[in-house]
Amino acid sequence: MQYLPSAQQLPPEKDPATIIEAINVCKEYATGTLNVQALRGINLLIARGEVVAIMGPSGCGKTTLLNCLSSLDAVTSGTIRIVGHDIRSLSDRELTDFRAREMGFVFQTYNLLPVLNGLENVELPLLISGVVAKEARARAWESIAQVGLTRWARHRPAEMSGGQRQRFAIARALATAPSIVWADEPTGHWIARPARRSST
Ligand SMILES: Nc1ncnc2c1ncn2[C@@H]1O[C@H](COP(=O)(O)OP(=O)(O)OP(=O)(O)O)[C@@H](O)[C@H]1O
Ligand SMILES: [Mg+2]
Repeated sequence: MQYLPSAQQLPPEKDPATIIEAINVCKEYATGTLNVQALRGINLLIARGEVVAIMGPSGCGKTTLLNCLSSLDAVTSGTIRIVGHDIRSLSDRELTDFRAREMGFVFQTYNLLPVLNGLENVELPLLISGVVAKEARARAWESIAQVGLTRWARHRPAEMSGGQRQRFAIARALATAPSIVWADEPTGHWIARPARRSST
C-alpha cells in the first residue's frame, strides 16, 4: 500500500495493479448538534495481492475507513475507485452485485444470521452470487473445514463461542473466493484458553 499525504502525489497514469484507490477521502458523521470528522483527507493505493493492516487507537476511524473503501458507507467528499471504477458511478444494484461477486466481509461484530446454522450462514453468499445449491453446499463445507469448525457446522450462532462465530464469519467471507477480503478486527474474539489446571 502507498499512503499518500496529498492528492497531488497520486500518479497520473492508472496502474493496472491497483485494486483500491482513495483520493482525498473525508467522512463526517452528523449526529444532532455534534459533527464528528472521522476521516480527513485520506489518500492511498492498494495493489492486487497486497495484505494491508490498518492500525490505530480505538475511535481513530478504522471501521469508518473500511466501510467507505468497501462501499458499504458513502463518503462525505473525495473519490474511491475499486478496480478502476469510481464507486459513485455504480448504481445500488451494480454495487450490490459487485460486492457479492468480488468482496468478502468479516465484520467487527460477526453479523451471522441468528436463525441460520453455521453451514447455512457460510452457504448464503454463495447462493446470493448465483452458485447452484449443490456446489454451494460443497464449497461451504470446504471453507468451514479450512477454519477447523466442521463439528460445529449445524450449530446456530447463539450456541457458539465468540471465536467460533468469528471463524464462521471468516469461512463465509472466503467461501466465494473474492478478489478483496475486508476484515475488521477478525481475531479480536479469539481468546486463548487458559491452561487447564489439574484438580488436586
Ligand atoms: N454511525 C456513527 N455516527 C456517529 N459517529 C460515529 C459513527 N460511527 C463512528 N462514529 C465516530 O467516528 C469515529 C471513528 O469511529 P470508528 O468506528 O471508525 O473507529 P475505530 O477506529 O474503528 O474504533 P475501534 O477500534 O474502537 O473499533 C469515532 O469518533 C466514532 O465515535
Ligand atoms: Mg472499529
